[in-house]
Amino acid sequence: MRQKIAAGNWKMHKTLDEGVDLAKQINDFVNQQGAGDAKVILAPPFIHLTEVLKVVDNPNISVSAQNCAYEQEGAFTGEVSADMIRSTGATYTIIGHSERRSIYKEDDETLQKKVDIALDNGLRPIFCVGETLEERDAGKQSQVVKNQLSKGLFHLDKNVFEQVVIAYEPVWAIGTGKHATPEQAEEMHKFIRDQVKEQYGDEIADNTSILYGGSIKPSNAETLFSQPDVDGGLVGGASLKPEDFTEIIKAL
Ligand code: PGA
Repeated sequence: MRQKIAAGNWKMHKTLDEGVDLAKQINDFVNQQGAGDAKVILAPPFIHLTEVLKVVDNPNISVSAQNCAYEQEGAFTGEVSADMIRSTGATYTIIGHSERRSIYKEDDETLQKKVDIALDNGLRPIFCVGETLEERDAGKQSQVVKNQLSKGLFHLDKNVFEQVVIAYEPVWAIGTGKHATPEQAEEMHKFIRDQVKEQYGDEIADNTSILYGGSIKPSNAETLFSQPDVDGGLVGGASLKPEDFTEIIKAL
């Protein structure tokens, strides 16, 4: 059975104290109420990782970075390596978020290197794919996502691919308050699973967690998560408010 996941991407929000406080509140909630069979992942800024890990003691919570460098080490001022991230105790990293693709111009080749280096250093990638509004309006969403998957992930061997989590995040739904309808999400998630099936077979496809991301809120989480191929969410804005994020965990 594939893992259900509620992941919170904090982006560039929260000071260290605020972040530790948020992590504590989520940890307390999961300690008290459990998370059912879901995994909770917290993705704070790099410099919060160590302190967040100190306050997380529930085995159902994992900690993730939001990005990693594509080189192992060296003279890359301002970068943080996968090895450094892993050394904090974090076990995941988001790769290819649309903000990295669009604002920081990370292309498919760069993202493939990041996927490889993350996996080589024991980090599980949460690999993001998704189309822009223009691409959807032109009916190109499937082609765009297929391309992102094949360039970023499908070079991996079967046994390595099993470590990957996929997040479908339509760019037009991120931070806009406009989420995909459950039908739009399901259609794309099924398409993604079919691509994985074609590449790696039924068993791996069935076991791959595919998260939806883009304006998830307590009010829409349940219907999105009830779709058969939606295995959870990558949550931005609503993951910053403990009362909202815990509702989203409950909805899973
Ligand atoms: P949002 O962000 O929930 O604020 O739309 C989602 C994401 O970018 O991961």
